[in-house]
Amino acid sequence: MIALIVAIAENGAIGKNNTLIWHLSDDLKRFKKLTTGHTIIMGRKTFESLPNGALPNRSNVVLTHNKNLNFPECKMYNSVAEIVTDFKEGEEENFVIGGGHLYRALLPFAEKIYLTRVHHSFEADVYFPEMDFKQWKIESEEKHPCSEKNEFAFSFINLVRIK
Ligand SMILES: NC(=O)c1ccc[n+]([C@@H]2O[C@H](COP(=O)([O-])OP(=O)(O)OC[C@H]3O[C@@H](n4cnc5c(N)ncnc54)[C@H](OP(=O)(O)O)[C@@H]3O)[C@@H](O)[C@H]2O)c1
Repeated sequence: MIALIVAIAENGAIGKNNTLIWHLSDDLKRFKKLTTGHTIIMGRKTFESLPNGALPNRSNVVLTHNKNLNFPECKMYNSVAEIVTDFKEGEEENFVIGGGHLYRALLPFAEKIYLTRVHHSFEADVYFPEMDFKQWKIESEEKHPCSEKNEFAFSFINLVRIK
């Protein structure tokens, strides 16, 4: 099945200049814990934003229109339809990890969203797509204040699609 994992600011911002806007140590830890051992699916730009290339101990899938592009340790895809065919079925969670283009393309096929809501608004150049929250149920919600390691307050909110 397809799950989205994303950190979204109060104004929908998710990125600027091909980087994340905030540093939340506990969010990075949660990301690692949830995705390790699984498939992670990302756009070409998000891959290029990773400081050390493919993330270890995960199967890295990258979407690009460029059929000649090959990134080390990655499985390359050239269409959303092929990703849906290969990753939508089954109980195993396959995580879409960004960015804006990938969230927009794969939100209609997602059954879960691991959302980190960052309780602040930011100037950005990439935003999460509009979504209809009526189609989603909150499975769990955990609030965290800002701290030395987390520069903004945030909440972990797990959403499941209402069938
Ligand atoms: N807050 C978060 O949780 C989070 C998570 C991840 C990323 N981000 C941020 O998001 C930003 C990047 O997002 P983005 O929207 O600019 O880029 P992106 O979604 O990471 O990648 C876009 C690229 O994916 C490929 N692509 C997209 N749709 C395709 C399709 N239908 N068929 C084939 N290829 C397709 C294209 O690559 P080609 O141009 O090579 O064809 C396109 O340029 C960065 O700022 C990053 O830091 C935020």
